[in-house]
Amino acid sequence: MPKLTIAIDGPAGSGKSSVAQRIAQILGYLYLDSGAMYRALALKALQNNGLALSSHSELEALAADTHIELKPTPPNLVAEGVKNQVLLDGIDVTQAIRTPEVAQAASQIATIAKVRELLVGEQRKAGAGGGVVMEGRDIGTVVFPNAELKIFLEASPEVRAERRWKEHEEKGEHFTLAQVLDEVHERDKRDRERKVSPLIRAKDAVLVDNTAMDIEETARLIVMLTREREKELAKAAGREV
Ligand code: DC
Repeated sequence: MPKLTIAIDGPAGSGKSSVAQRIAQILGYLYLDSGAMYRALALKALQNNGLALSSHSELEALAADTHIELKPTPPNLVAEGVKNQVLLDGIDVTQAIRTPEVAQAASQIATIAKVRELLVGEQRKAGAGGGVVMEGRDIGTVVFPNAELKIFLEASPEVRAERRWKEHEEKGEHFTLAQVLDEVHERDKRDRERKVSPLIRAKDAVLVDNTAMDIEETARLIVMLTREREKELAKAAGREV
């Protein structure tokens, strides 16, 4: 059975990462977190003190001069919620990119067309060949518009904020739920309203609202959709399954 390209898009806290990672584990596919690339570049910009997040030309130059690599998550760290291993110019930044400050900066630099162009090129290279579950905001619309299966994951803002709040608590980071909800609203607004590649549901994406579902239920539902899609494709190609 040929392996598919699965595109999962959705807002912050919709469970994309955990769900995509679990699907990849069940299907034996490669999991790729495109947001980690925006986060890694944002981290470099933040570390580069003089660089204003509003200076598009400087950020474009920075992106052109940066090498970001996503590596499969070490199997022993999957259960701990570690996503892809991320190398920024050869340095491991897997943990360093998981802060609210980096998340906000990533959402800001993700509004710059040229920066997106460069990172989308890298994402296409990383996912070439199929057998991949890639998650982000524009995977089904821009990065892999021909993906065989597209999912748009949603959940209510309150539930998404609660999930994020729990993740922070587990890492010993204390915020109020109201602070996290504000952050979710702010990022939603920026991601959905930006001019270039805004977060929208691709026409052919299946909408999955997991407000009342956990990671495992959501992942199993999408695995079932994958199996259905495989059958449809096999039938269309004249192959029996
Ligand atoms: O998925 P995430 O929360 O780690 O992503 C961080 C930011 O990066 C997000 O607020 C918007 C941006 N992003 C994007 O614009 N396009 C993607 N494909 C992935 C992330």
